[in-house]
Formats: sequence, C-alpha cells, structure tokens
Amino acid sequence: MKLLKVGTILLLFLSGCSPTYQQPVSLPSEPFLVIAHRGASAYAPAHTFPSYELAIEMGAHYIELDLHRTKDGKLVVLHNDSIELNGSELEIDEITTDTLSAFKPADEFNRPDNKFASQRFTSLRVPSLEQVLREFGDQTNYYIEIKSPDRYPGIEQQLFEQLDGHHLLDRDDPLPKVIIQSFSSDSLKKVHELSPTTPLIQLYSFKKKANLSSAKLKQVSRYASGIGVNAEVVTEQLVEAVHQSGLAIHPFTVNQSEQASTLISLGVNGIFTDKPDLIINLLHQNSK
Ligand code: G3P
Ligand code: CA
Repeated sequence: MKLLKVGTILLLFLSGCSPTYQQPVSLPSEPFLVIAHRGASAYAPAHTFPSYELAIEMGAHYIELDLHRTKDGKLVVLHNDSIELNGSELEIDEITTDTLSAFKPADEFNRPDNKFASQRFTSLRVPSLEQVLREFGDQTNYYIEIKSPDRYPGIEQQLFEQLDGHHLLDRDDPLPKVIIQSFSSDSLKKVHELSPTTPLIQLYSFKKKANLSSAKLKQVSRYASGIGVNAEVVTEQLVEAVHQSGLAIHPFTVNQSEQASTLISLGVNGIFTDKPDLIINLLHQNSK
C-alpha cells in the first residue's frame, strides 16, 4: 500500500503534478441545448413527474435532476440539502426515505399568488432516482447534478450502477443520454475515471465577474466537456475563452426572453431554464 502511494506521488511529480485523464468527449455543437431546470419547474413543482412530463412535452433536450442520498442509502431527486417538516429542519442524509415521503414538494409551489398552483399537485412526493429512470427511461435525456458529494461518499459509483442498470450509458444516440454536473471538481474527476465517455459539466457561481483564467479552463477541459455558470456573469470574452479551451458553456437559470436572446447571441451552447417553452419558441423565431 505504502509503495503504491509512493509510486502515485512519483508519477504525479513526473507528469507535472497533475493527473492525466482520458480526453473528455466533446458535446455536439448542435442543437442548442434546452435544459429543463428541475423540469418545467415554472409550471409544476420542481423535480416531480408533472414537471418532467411537461418539459419533455415542450421539447426540452434534457431534464435536470439534483441528486441527494437518504440515510437508508436511496438516491433521491430534490434541490435542497434539507427539508422542513413539522417545523423542523431535517438534513436529507440524516432521514430515511420513509420520513422523506411525508414531505410535499407542492407546498411551496402552491402559493396563493402562483397562477400555476393546482390541487392536483398536492399528492406528489419527492421521487427516487430509480422512480424517475423507470418512468422516463430513454424517452428523454438526463442532466444530473451531484449535490454535496462530500456528504455522500461513493455516490458517484452508486449513480453509475443505476444508470448502467437502465442502459443509459455508452449508447449511440445523437445526444448523450446522460450529462453529469457538479460544483465539486473532485466528484467530477471521480466520475470521469468511472466513465470517461460521459460528458461532464463543471458548475460555477460567481458574484460579480467570472474568475476563470485560460489556465483554469484548460485544467477543467482535462476532465469536463463544458461549464455551467450563473447567467449574470456571462460575457462575450468568457464565452470565447471557454470555447478556446474546447469547452461548452451552459448558463443558468434563464427565464426571460431578453436575457436568453443576449446569451444566444453571445454564442452559449445551451441554457438551463424553468420555462423550456420560452426558450424553444425563441429558438424557432430566430431560425425563421
Ligand atoms: O445545475 C445548474 C444549476 O441548477 C445550479 O444551481 O442551485 O439550481 O442547482 P441550482
Ligand atoms: Ca441544479
């Protein structure tokens, strides 16, 4: 074991102190990707079947999933690290699926001022990854975010076993069936080692300006196929630098036509949106 460690350190040293990865796959330059952020989540509760169904009906290329793991080891699809239940804040990794099943994603969506609120959403529950994959199979593509991987050791392997079980990996489709995204570069690097043919997106969120040098982007391009970044910081220079590094760029989360038009004209390769219909209509108009 000791020898192996010494060997690895020596190899890293000899290769300029950065591990060498298999060249990531490039994402196709067409079509412009419409990524349904938590499904068509402007119109139905985020990460629920109606939200995903609507996104697919509208023609989104990908449904976006945020992934967590419960105390009993189930991968579940919801945005936050915790839920509020009966007045208590409960961390997902500290509760079982049974406890999670009491949580109603519609409670937040069905606000009195939300014109899309509906009683038909009240029976919805947080789906497991397994339920989503079983329901939608290969009728859509999946853009999966590994959230808080430090809290869920081994989540990468577990995810890939499930994806493999549903025959969603290493297929010959025009678009990759699965894209994996994370703010954690460590998690993405693990994924890249597990499945070098799966495209990865390195996520960033910046307050004012994107702090991404060409050298940094070059590093990212060793394991990822693109970056996802908050839309407010996207500039022509950033798009150019990202493309020069051979990466794609997918800004989040864009729900206004004007902002979407600006980003499209800057040359981004896809957009995360709660309103897939809005972006698709815009793209149709632009193509006339
Ligand atoms: O995954 C892209 C974007 O969704 C990241 O932000 O907080 O909506 O998961 P968040
Ligand atoms: Ca996300």
